[in-house]
Amino acid sequence: MFSRVFKPAAVARQFSTSKQNNFKVAVAGASGGIGQPLSLLLKQCPLVTELRLYDIVHTPGVAADLSHIETPAKVLGFNGPDAAKDAFKDCDIVVIPAGVPRKPGMTRDDLFNTNAGIVRDIAKACAEVCPKACLAIISNPVNSTVPIASEVFKKAGKLDPKKIFGVTTLDVVRANAFIAEAKGLNPMEVNVPVIGGHAGITIMPLISQSKPAVDFPADKLKALTERIQEAGTEVVKAKAGAGSATLSMAYAGARFAISLMRGMKGESNVIECAYVRSDVTEATYFSTPLLLGKNGLEKNMGLGNLSEYEKNLLKAAIPELKKTIQKGEDFVNKA
Ligand SMILES: NC(=O)c1ccc[n+]([C@@H]2O[C@H](COP(=O)([O-])OP(=O)(O)OC[C@H]3O[C@@H](n4cnc5c(N)ncnc54)[C@H](O)[C@@H]3O)[C@@H](O)[C@H]2O)c1
Repeated sequence: MFSRVFKPAAVARQFSTSKQNNFKVAVAGASGGIGQPLSLLLKQCPLVTELRLYDIVHTPGVAADLSHIETPAKVLGFNGPDAAKDAFKDCDIVVIPAGVPRKPGMTRDDLFNTNAGIVRDIAKACAEVCPKACLAIISNPVNSTVPIASEVFKKAGKLDPKKIFGVTTLDVVRANAFIAEAKGLNPMEVNVPVIGGHAGITIMPLISQSKPAVDFPADKLKALTERIQEAGTEVVKAKAGAGSATLSMAYAGARFAISLMRGMKGESNVIECAYVRSDVTEATYFSTPLLLGKNGLEKNMGLGNLSEYEKNLLKAAIPELKKTIQKGEDFVNKA
């Protein structure tokens, strides 16, 4: 992954600069299917100097195991709710894959009842002990958990919307992989923005903006779009009750966290799609390509030019997004 996310020259350069290259990163849900491989990838990142592993189970073991790897990042384990604040204290980035995953037949929204409270409590601890950290929220339903975290920060008087991100990188990773496969391209060289949210029809790949440019007949375009929208369900079905995407999500989560660090240390032109507070459409949270910088979101790059097909996808997604955003906000404000 590091060859795509990290240009080798950029890694070499960071040792000779005075810019920040020592990040404290916490993973909340670190013992889980995503949390463990995600922590493994972050342990290999030379920008991470301290890796804090937080979960309600098994973190002493996961931390002991990862700490034997011969990379500089210091690994610390924090177990149980009483350790949450120590885990997040003064962190630069908190990546959150805590919570239950889908089983066959479930939508991401079916996870709301369990995961909403988990994300709320983690956000509360962060607002208290690392209010300036960037939060990268993986826990589903992302369309609602990001508004939940934002409302918690708002209530605490600590909200900086440029620092709360819903991780939609896996949708981009999948779009790149599937389009490269369909066209016989090198997936490392394909870039397809995916906008909107992270559930079903709210996932909108902008294949018309693919780099390099690609062209598909209408039926093939529709099939590819739907495969990207339903790719998570493809994995849930294949795992047959054993959970949802974990390894590809760990890759995507690490890619996003590393991009955040690259932006925060002052590297130019670091762009990732993510689900953030937004005024680009009628939905108050929306994923678009974002320029990442020293304080998190530096500049929202907007929608770009949409094809007629993509304009129709957008029209269908907005009501669904609005509903799930409201649900998240109500969870915090009407509880
Ligand atoms: N954003 C995306 O693209 C994407 C992709 C795949 C999965 N997900 C979501 O990521 C989440 C995690 O999936 P997984 O497969 O790793 O699940 P998992 O069950 O394997 O792991 C979840 C971990 O969270 C921990 N946890 C539960 N409650 C906690 C709490 N209160 N505080 C801290 N940790 C807690 C559990 O102990 C467990 O170790 C799910 O909500 C899933 O839907 C998101």
